[in-house]
Amino acid sequence: MSDPEEVELEARLEEQESFDPPAAFAEQANVDDASIYDEFEAAWPDCWEAAAGMLDWDEAYDTVLDDSTPPFYEWFTGGSLNASANCLDRHLDERGDEVAVEWVGEPVDEDNRSFTYGELHREVNETAAALRDLGVGEDDVVTMYMPMVPELPVAMLACARIGAPHSVVFAGFSADALATRMNAADSEYLVTCDGYYRRGDPLDHLSKAHDGLANVDHGTETVVVDRLRDGDGFGHGSGDDEHDYDDLVAAHEGATVEPVSRDAEDMLFLMYTSGTTGEPKGVKHTTGGYLSWVSWTSRAVLDVTPEDTYFCSADIGWITGHSYIVYGPLSLGTTTMMYEGTPDHPDNDRLWQIVEDYEATQLYTAPTAIRAFMKWGTEYPERHDLSSLRLLGTVGEPINPRAWKWYYKHIGDEACPVVDTWWQTETGGMMVTTLPGVKTMKPGSAGPPLPGVDATVVDTNGDEVEAGRAGYLTVGRPWPGMLRTLYRNDERFVDEYWAEFSDTDSDDPADWVYSPEDGAKVDEDGYITVLGRVDDVLNVSGHRLGTMEIESAIVGVEGVAEAAVVGGDHEVKGEAVYAYAITEDDQAESEELRERVVEAVEAAIGPIARPERVVFTPDLPKTRSGKIMRRLLENIADGDALGDTSTLRNPEVVDDIQARASD
Ligand code: WT7
Repeated sequence: MSDPEEVELEARLEEQESFDPPAAFAEQANVDDASIYDEFEAAWPDCWEAAAGMLDWDEAYDTVLDDSTPPFYEWFTGGSLNASANCLDRHLDERGDEVAVEWVGEPVDEDNRSFTYGELHREVNETAAALRDLGVGEDDVVTMYMPMVPELPVAMLACARIGAPHSVVFAGFSADALATRMNAADSEYLVTCDGYYRRGDPLDHLSKAHDGLANVDHGTETVVVDRLRDGDGFGHGSGDDEHDYDDLVAAHEGATVEPVSRDAEDMLFLMYTSGTTGEPKGVKHTTGGYLSWVSWTSRAVLDVTPEDTYFCSADIGWITGHSYIVYGPLSLGTTTMMYEGTPDHPDNDRLWQIVEDYEATQLYTAPTAIRAFMKWGTEYPERHDLSSLRLLGTVGEPINPRAWKWYYKHIGDEACPVVDTWWQTETGGMMVTTLPGVKTMKPGSAGPPLPGVDATVVDTNGDEVEAGRAGYLTVGRPWPGMLRTLYRNDERFVDEYWAEFSDTDSDDPADWVYSPEDGAKVDEDGYITVLGRVDDVLNVSGHRLGTMEIESAIVGVEGVAEAAVVGGDHEVKGEAVYAYAITEDDQAESEELRERVVEAVEAAIGPIARPERVVFTPDLPKTRSGKIMRRLLENIADGDALGDTSTLRNPEVVDDIQARASD
């Protein structure tokens, strides 16, 4: 830290532990009165009519919350609506000519694309007609394996229009990951694309999709978007069960599709996420509750208004993009940005260039990105006029106070509130964060629970911990955006999220507590600092990875007998994958084997899960009952002191592993 300006910033900001909402922001904030906390508390659960009331309903709901069979809660029952009509049709009169989606391709000379609400509505209708023509019916799961191309939100909204749930698989996931998800959901339809740009080069995506399809155990119809416009290139849409997107849409030019009225509790989409076991979990989100939640939180927390140009740099392949690029912003009739590429192409100022060019009003990104920006230096944001920004947000992992302050100062110019939003794929939308116009911000602490949200920190017995103590984050009352179940697996839903702190024999909702599997601590003022996962799930660059998934890929490698994967500290990624592997007796611990391990992980999951380090070891530290002591392996990865090893069955292995890891 030799940069004098950095030193000065540190000196001034270091001491400061809290920041009030900037006055100019507070004056115009969508939520400008702190009484909302008490009001929501007093009126719970009816307070959530405020969220449902932001939507257009075909049929009014008759019950806000049906909690008769916990934890299978239902919201806004009896009501019906369509998500695509809420994101498109209802804006046409007033905002038909305003931009809905601003798409920026990675190449700097790209023909960037803008879709007005009118244009997006038209393309969604044509796509909906085309999908229906292919055979997609209500409740058929349509998988999308697409990068950040505008046809992704188009296809999502087209599915929503005809009542077909979508299941988006992150484009960076491997062919195997795609096949696993399509098989698990019995999904017979896939929308994908030929390729996309990464750091200047076109990437072949279609071959990966084909490799995945080869392992899908039922018949499929595939639609291929021609993103690259490179003639034959990586190929697109040929064969009986593979169709070119442009041809399909052209064949339905001008078609209109009546939005299908969906029950509030009908599934809007599925999203697979990693858990402690090797098998991904299909998180089910609904039409009424989810859409209310993301609409309400986009307005209250991200302060979105129809006049904004709102920029979230996440990928739509993750829940952040679903909730806060597509459904939340579009339900509010604003302009939402989509950027195809990485923030360092062609140079480290790409995001700032985009903010300046489009006069973005909000930026919602991840701590891992902020840490990378810090490393690159202030010269990059300084090249650009960022004064259009009004609010900054972060999500995905804990943000260290230093990164928070850097973001606040160098991107927000001390004039934008920073919302540190804690939530998960399962919660659908934000749960713990400050309301930016009314709440003091404390760097490093996400903030109080949102109004109406009952988040507390408890000990192993489920009793609330004292201020200052660490424990488990829990959510006591249901909320409209919550997952309803794990797809076709109610039992695992109860086991994974409720069993820990609930009386599972009880019908009384007061006996049921949701467990997100995060550690946290709470301050005197009720602010919650999230510490990280307490299960065997890693958070690498804000992406959730199950250690079991990675381990099972590694033990699939010939010559590997056993493996343990833990997260080690990483300056930019937050956590990085550290793999420890025991080789089979006659197997040499070669560089070649190490490469095969890395390749196996990439093939099973994708490059995001690539191990930072693979350490071969003759044994793993185990307790007397045979459980691997992960904590020790983490300490070894971080080069930390090991503490007590006396409870190990084989304490002698520790020194050996330590020596190998530091080679
Ligand atoms: C896990 C959820 C929420 C969308 C992106 C990730 C961690 C998320 C924060 C935050 C500390 C956070 C938690 C959570 N996390 N936001 N603001 N502070 N930790 O979604 O893949 O479902 O992961 O991300 O550990 O459980 P996800």
